[in-house]
This record gives sequence, C-alpha cells and structure tokens, in this order.
Amino acid sequence: MANVLLVDDEEALRQTMALFLRHEGHVCRLAGDVDSALLALAAESADVVVSDIRMPGGGGIALLEAVRGLAYRCEVIMVTGDPTVETAVQAIRCGAFDYVAKPLTRARLCGAVEAAATLKYAADADVRYREDLERLVEARTASLHESLERLQRTVENTTQALSRALEIRDPYTAGHQRRVTHLSCAIHDRLGAQRRLSPQGRDGLRIAGLLHDLGKLAIPAEILAKPARLSSVEVSLIRAHPVIGWEILSGLDFGWPVAEIVRQHHERWDGTGYPDGLKREEIRLEARILGVADVLEAMASHRPYRPALGVEVALEEIRKGSGTAFDPEVVAACLSVFLEDGYVLDSGVLAD
Ligand SMILES: [Fe+2]
Repeated sequence: MANVLLVDDEEALRQTMALFLRHEGHVCRLAGDVDSALLALAAESADVVVSDIRMPGGGGIALLEAVRGLAYRCEVIMVTGDPTVETAVQAIRCGAFDYVAKPLTRARLCGAVEAAATLKYAADADVRYREDLERLVEARTASLHESLERLQRTVENTTQALSRALEIRDPYTAGHQRRVTHLSCAIHDRLGAQRRLSPQGRDGLRIAGLLHDLGKLAIPAEILAKPARLSSVEVSLIRAHPVIGWEILSGLDFGWPVAEIVRQHHERWDGTGYPDGLKREEIRLEARILGVADVLEAMASHRPYRPALGVEVALEEIRKGSGTAFDPEVVAACLSVFLEDGYVLDSGVLAD
C-alpha cells in the first residue's frame, strides 16, 4: 500500500486515477495544479507522485524538479496525452521513474505505481541499512580507539613502573634513564629532520630509553654503587645487563622491537661493543642513538667512582668516537642538538 499524490488539472481524470488506485489499496490525495501539489507534499510525504506533464500555470516537469529537491525520496510517474518519444525522453531525463500515456488503463497505471512504490521502499531500506552500518562502524571505531588508548596507557604505566623500580634500587642511576631518553628523543628528532624516521621508531626509542638499564636489577646493589674500580668478575657481571634486560622485555609486545634496542645499547659502530659485537647498520638506529646519549649522559653526570666530568668533556669524547665507537651521523646530530639547538642536560627532565 503506497501513499500516492495524484496531480492533474482535469477533475474527472484525477477521480478516475484515484478510483483505480484506491481499489488496489493505495492511499490517494488529489491536487489540481503544481502549487497545491507542492503544498500537499510539504504537509505530508508521499511515496509516489503521478502527475500530468502539461498543466496550466506550470507543467509536470517543474513539479518533478521540485520533488527531486525534497529531503526524502519520492518516485514520480508522468502522465502524458502526447505519447511522443521526445516527451518520454524528457520525463525520464528529468528523473521520472516512468511515464504513462493517455488514455489511462487501470492495469498500466496500477502496475507503474506498484513498481515505483517497490523501488522507493527498496531504496529507503538501502539508506536505512547504510545508516545503520555507518553507526555500527562508528561505534566499533570509537571502542577500538578507546581500547588502544587504554593499552597505550598500560604500556606507559608499566614502562614508568619498571624504570622507577631500577631507580629506587640504584640511586646513582636515578634520573639517568629519563635524561638519556630525553636526549635520545632530541637526537632522533634532529635526525628525523633530514631522514624520514617513523613516529613508531621514536616511541620505541623512548620506551627503550626508559628501560635500557633494566637488566641491572639482577646485579648486586653493592657492585652498582661501588665507589672504586671494579674487578674483572664484577665488570663481566655488569656487562650482562643488556642481555638480562632483553630477556625481561622480550616477552612484551610494545609494537616496536624495544627488547632488541635494549640488548644493543652497548654495541659499538666498529664492532667493539657487547654483547654480540654487532657493527654499523647491524645495530638498530635506535640503539645507536641510545648508545651515544647513554655515554654522554654518564660522562656528564656524577658517578659512584668519579665526579661529573661536564658536558664539554663528554661532547669531546663523543666527537672523538665518531666513526669508530659511534655512528658519525648520530654524533653529528647529537653535536647539533647541543651546539645549535642549545640543549641542556637537565637533571629534572621528564621524558616526553
Ligand atoms: Fe647500559
């Protein structure tokens, strides 16, 4: 059952069409011209409009265009007393669903209205389905974003907690990891200005920086805090910390190979580092950056076995190691960070 608006300037024809259609169970409203048809459509929506193509005071084509501009879908069937190909083409081109030639027959009119109503319902159902689907996708996306944010917060909190655990146990390196992280990110950003570095790599570097000495949890606190030269056994114990850190972290998925970066942070450009004696690009870029920042921060700060040497001395040491211990590109970026950007190694920084 469709809601139909019948528009024709001939009263008798309107009534005949209404009779045919009401007999089929459709609800019909009648209008004698375009203006009253538009008023009727504004007052209540229709599924199908059946309109004469030629009427005094404005034709059916004008009505057709007005119907196209409605906020809802409504199919239009044109009725014409001049069944030429041109009239039919004009009606269809303007967006009519069908056209019916006079004299009207019950079967032809009812068939056209039936088909138009079916199309309209199918189109409406399609729109509803699309809207439902869009709402569903929006809701799923929002909940996915929420889960991702929660996961990121968890990673962040876990990282901070592990980092603090080591700092509480080893006060001499308190703040060391945060300062190294902050400097590493500054070097990464400087390098990123010349090379295309991924933001995920920076995040991975940041987490690895905050956890790079995590393996020291396994080393006796007396050795870490010893204010004298270490024996060879003690040195080899300390040198195990990158692998221990890697073992602790390798089961965790940070979305970036954080465990590997931690394992490689004492590797050196010329292959003289540990634990695996990797060389040049065999060492991940993040680990090469971390290595430079780690050495620089350690030299510039106070240590149990010696006072702070200062940033100047530390920078000189880094410069001397360019191309041997350290990646020259990373060294150049590090020097630019201090000498051009005026970077200050601050004891109170929080890694961003
Ligand atoms: Fe280390």
